[in-house]
Amino acid sequence: MATELERVMDDWLARIEDRLAHWLPPKKRYNARFHEAMRYSTLGGGKRIRPLLIYATGVATGQDLDQLDGPACAVEMIHVYSLIHDDLPCMDDDDLRRGKPTCHKAFGEATAVLAGDALQALAFKVLSTDPAMTDDPAIRLGMIATIATAAGYQGMAGGQAIDLDSVGKKLSLVALEEMHIYKTGELIRAAVNMAASNRPDLAPELARGLNRYAECIGLAFQIRDDILDIEGDTETLGKQSGADQALGKPTFPDIIGLSESKARLHELHQQALAALDGFDASADILRDIANYIVARIH
Ligand code: IPE
Ligand code: IPE
Ligand code: MG
Ligand code: MG
Ligand code: MG
Repeated sequence: MATELERVMDDWLARIEDRLAHWLPPKKRYNARFHEAMRYSTLGGGKRIRPLLIYATGVATGQDLDQLDGPACAVEMIHVYSLIHDDLPCMDDDDLRRGKPTCHKAFGEATAVLAGDALQALAFKVLSTDPAMTDDPAIRLGMIATIATAAGYQGMAGGQAIDLDSVGKKLSLVALEEMHIYKTGELIRAAVNMAASNRPDLAPELARGLNRYAECIGLAFQIRDDILDIEGDTETLGKQSGADQALGKPTFPDIIGLSESKARLHELHQQALAALDGFDASADILRDIANYIVARIH
């Protein structure tokens, strides 16, 4: 039987593709090559986990999804920007992303840096101007603050700095978890919390449950990514496998071993599901996403 996630997946993937294409700069105009780099990295690829989480949180909290297209685009733009920069020679130096040459391989390093910069800026333009979003300026501003925090020094960029600083070092498990929470978990948590914040009348215990769910799957997502770097194959992943070990990256399998990493993943999965106990079947897509994150093969 199809899961609730499978039931909505195609629609939601088409929806986010369409909304992203709407906001991205046009193909055939002034500065076409730069615009093409932004479109190349953003469109037609990726699992879209963060937008899916936004819509799924919308369903769990009984919302009109039209109000959530802006946040869904914004979080994907920040994510794509982080991938473009993560792949640069000065960071992970990767040639393959989403099954095609990385942005800097296709367009050159300077263009890749700028495409990332412009995607980050575009995310904030979307959040601050999308007319379909809430007409409550406090909610809009709260979302902007949430994603700014998750992208910056207390989130993705901070985590990436720790990651680069830790190459070749044996981090403690606590430090490793903190790095993963920063570099990946916080943006995932921001996705869920932005969507939840669009329902200011949501019962506080339900909002706390969603936040806890997002913390668990955010960390789980990066642990699974680390495991896939070892167990996955390049073709399925759409990015080079074995890259972490080659670079001496601190990863879960590196610090606690593969089987302990899987045990931690299992524990976070159970905790994520338990955090949704206060929800009825409306949260089934969120439950399906948690199941997917721990079992995914790419
Ligand atoms: C890869 O993210 C980088 C991490 C944060 C682990 P995703 O696995 O979500 O990449 P796409 O968007 O599906 O390509
Ligand atoms: C990247 O982590 C997390 C980001 C913030 C982009 P990784 O370096 O492990 O991501 P992949 O494996 O290249 O997708
Ligand atoms: Mg990296
Ligand atoms: Mg990388
Ligand atoms: Mg990785």
